[in-house]
Amino acid sequence: MPSLHLTNLTKRFSRHTALHELSLTVQDGEIFTLLGPSGCGKSTTLWSIAGLHQPDSGSIAFGDRVVFEHGRVDVEPEHRNCGVVFQSYAIWPHMSVAANVAYPLKLRKTAKAQRERRVREVLDLVELADHARAYPHQLSGGQQQRVALARALAHPPDMLLLDEPFSNLDAKLRDRSRQWLKALQAQVGVTTVFVTHDQDEALSVSDRIAVMSQGRVHQVGTPNEIYEHPADLFVADFVGTANILTAIVTEADGSHALLRIDGLDQPLRVPHTDKRLGTARICIRPENIDIHRSGSVVGPPPDALTVTVENRAYLGDHYRYTVRVGASPVTVTTTRPVDDGELTISLPPPDIRVFHEEPASDVLEEAPSNEENPHAPVH
Ligand SMILES: Nc1ncnc2c1ncn2[C@@H]1O[C@H](COP(=O)(O)OP(=O)(O)O)[C@@H](O)[C@H]1O
Ligand SMILES: [Mg+2]
Repeated sequence: MPSLHLTNLTKRFSRHTALHELSLTVQDGEIFTLLGPSGCGKSTTLWSIAGLHQPDSGSIAFGDRVVFEHGRVDVEPEHRNCGVVFQSYAIWPHMSVAANVAYPLKLRKTAKAQRERRVREVLDLVELADHARAYPHQLSGGQQQRVALARALAHPPDMLLLDEPFSNLDAKLRDRSRQWLKALQAQVGVTTVFVTHDQDEALSVSDRIAVMSQGRVHQVGTPNEIYEHPADLFVADFVGTANILTAIVTEADGSHALLRIDGLDQPLRVPHTDKRLGTARICIRPENIDIHRSGSVVGPPPDALTVTVENRAYLGDHYRYTVRVGASPVTVTTTRPVDDGELTISLPPPDIRVFHEEPASDVLEEAPSNEENPHAPVH
């Protein structure tokens, strides 16, 4: 299966730029997710790969094969050999399951016997062998999406492109479908680009994720890297829940920084490799904050902070508390309840991420002038 290379893709719709010089590499056989809010350019990227949109600049290659290069190459969608599944079940209502799946093979004039064998194979793969003669209206939403997936796989595609395939399913079925898709993709081994706006879905199905906003990629990484080490505040806030507080970095030596956080008496010393000083935003996940009844732990950390609880909620498998640190509300989650009364929280330094508001000075110094940098804005 080929890898996929997108290089400097820009796509405009009249005056609106949907993709800004977007570059990405998807490895051979990987399940790679485009994650971002509605309108950030995920579908536009997917359609460009499939050949259904023509970007205004940039190039697309499947392995060594260039399928699009602006003004030079534009391989027809049917010759890109992408299997595509969209959010709405785009299967034909008047055709049986088997006929739907056989359709792309018929278009390619595959011999009847071979076609029937392949239809049985892919229906087995998506666990619908017993429903070959059924019509779409006799199937559940989840089964209909599996028919769409079987059809996308019928003529083995070089690239599988899935645009929010599970977003019309209910929560339980969606979760099962994700697990099922991940197992199936591993079995088939086809290079897959998966689009979703749902962070849980992205974290659970992907080998790697690109977090996008407004036609740009903010970060590419494994689910763990994206969640534990967000590259910027947008990623921190979009993926998972993040408490974002304002702090002042008063000292920074390249391995640690000293933070003054509004509402906290003691400065906090946290691991941080940047030497910039001044105002910053810090991010900490609700599950990383320790919460205790005051006086209930022996030797509480020096940075423990007494707080008042503004809100508490029981959510079945965990409890969520909203407390106040300085002027900011802070969400804390824990699997065990904390008694009523005076509570203390502490912010474990290794779990604090620091984001500076100004660009790094060395980045500014190294930025080339416009003549040298064709990507710099033109004034
Ligand atoms: N055919 C189109 N004509 C005009 N604008 C479009 C068209 N398709 C997408 N857009 C715009 O491009 C942006 C990105 O859209 P899209 O790729 O569909 O986002 P996503 O899939 O992330 O929700 C949006 O602002 C959207 O309104
Ligand atoms: Mg979309």
